[in-house]
Amino acid sequence: APAPAPGDAHDPGPGGWNAAVGAMVNLSEQRGGTLRLVSSADVDSLDPARTYYVWVWLLQRMLNRTLMAYPTEPGTAGLTPVPDLAEGPGVPGDGNRTWTYRLREGLRFDDGTPVTSADVRYAVQRIFAQDMLPGGPTYLVPLLDDPARPYAGPYRDGDPEALPAVLTPDDRTIVFRLRTPFSDFDHLMAQPCVAPVPRHADTGARYGDAPRSTGPYRVADHRPGSHLHLERNPHWDRATDPVRPALPDRVELTIGLGLDEMDERLTAGEFDINLEGRGLQHAAQNRLAGDPVLRSRTDNPKTSFLHFVSLQPHVPPFDNPHVRRAVHYAADKILLQEARGGPVTGGDLTTALFPPRLAAHQALDRYPTGPDLRGDLDAARAELAAAGLPDGFDAVIGTQRGKFRLVADAVVESVARVGIRLTVKELDVATYFSQGAGSPETIRKHGLGLIVTDWGADFPTEYGFLAPLVDGRLIRPGGGNWNIAELDDPEVNALIDESLHTEDPAARAELWRDVERRVMDHAVILPLVHDKTLHYRSPRVTNVYVHPAFGLYDVQAMGVAGTR
Ligand code: ARG
Repeated sequence: APAPAPGDAHDPGPGGWNAAVGAMVNLSEQRGGTLRLVSSADVDSLDPARTYYVWVWLLQRMLNRTLMAYPTEPGTAGLTPVPDLAEGPGVPGDGNRTWTYRLREGLRFDDGTPVTSADVRYAVQRIFAQDMLPGGPTYLVPLLDDPARPYAGPYRDGDPEALPAVLTPDDRTIVFRLRTPFSDFDHLMAQPCVAPVPRHADTGARYGDAPRSTGPYRVADHRPGSHLHLERNPHWDRATDPVRPALPDRVELTIGLGLDEMDERLTAGEFDINLEGRGLQHAAQNRLAGDPVLRSRTDNPKTSFLHFVSLQPHVPPFDNPHVRRAVHYAADKILLQEARGGPVTGGDLTTALFPPRLAAHQALDRYPTGPDLRGDLDAARAELAAAGLPDGFDAVIGTQRGKFRLVADAVVESVARVGIRLTVKELDVATYFSQGAGSPETIRKHGLGLIVTDWGADFPTEYGFLAPLVDGRLIRPGGGNWNIAELDDPEVNALIDESLHTEDPAARAELWRDVERRVMDHAVILPLVHDKTLHYRSPRVTNVYVHPAFGLYDVQAMGVAGTR
């Protein structure tokens, strides 16, 4: 019999169940063809300064290059940025306070104009214009801004001498002088928001409608809510780019399909990859169960998001650590994992905080919940007695409708067993992280002693993962706050500062293990699962792997088989 064609329903294709996690499936250097992608929703923005969706950051790797970039690597090497536009990694000086980069030679935008250090500096300046260009990460602002003369961005402040913390001594050199040491600076130089933007092409808030590119592709056509087509950037030079194989000639993203329809057309071979990475829904999961071929084309990676419950010491009676510990002991971990969706599309149970791929990851189970993980109710009652609340108490748990609500209900059921009577307060989904759980004022207004939430790092380091959740200096009173418990422990803060000027990665990991232990002593974070998703890969796609820094398929690495 002839060998089945790639994509044929009887050909399992290369790989196998979970084969694109930690390794690359279907290796090929073949160029050409069209990669067909699908997503339920549109990009948040094509302005590199204004995107925060992980999948759009991965898409940005096709369109834009940055001084540093995460390499095309399925293993842990993928977690360390490599020089992209830059010739080498950032050269640190003054105890990680200054960082110097030099651009490669021969770099051009897709309109043919050369890329200079001024274009990188201009991208950095744009980040300061949050009033006009909101949406992206802002880690650089406090590191570079002078509080005595805050910079308002290039639209409101035309002074070329403004932002003296970023210097461009010549067309290829850029120097950052930080206010405080920052050991992870190369990671910030890998975020899309620092992709060079030529001043001559900047249209401010409308830049995303017609962005320039430095990557192998540029936008050919974007009809919001309908499709996004990419074509090759004729001015991208393969010889200057150590990261991107740039195999397909064209990339077509179909936008706006319903979740089940998307799964159906994906598994039928009409699309290659769900770019958005939401994962297969229930209907498709059920079809998989009885179909070994389909199953062999799926991957079940960790997303690197932690799902957890935040406990607020500023909302009584959670000001008493015994009360917070009682909640930890009373948690029925199995029930909570089921509420998340179970071990495959929910996640791996965890009693520690760091995702396993980070160096600081340690086995830590500060509040064991018994051999069956259903809760240690005696320990919980002992903590309540120590708090002077042996009969329990009334409190409120905040959540949002949908999946977070199921988790809240499982918490209610867990702690009811020791007399803690929780009422559920649902907050608005769209503004949950900005104005709901992320607003210290909302937490106080509704007395939300407990909050259901999740978090994924913006860059894959210990600082990137844990600092926003526990650093007292990162509490944002105005909203968008991730340190929901408002933990402000001088010892935790000091350990974090020490990590930021420590150059040795092993020593840094040790400091972060201390931070994690201290945070767990405070009992302000009840970790539940490290989230997992179930992704489908078409056998037609080459070089498929889940990027360890992002937890989703690295679309820029992909090619299309059988295009000759
Ligand atoms: N840190 C944000 C969160 O947990 C976004 C994480 C994913 N996005 C990203 N670009 N890393 O919701």
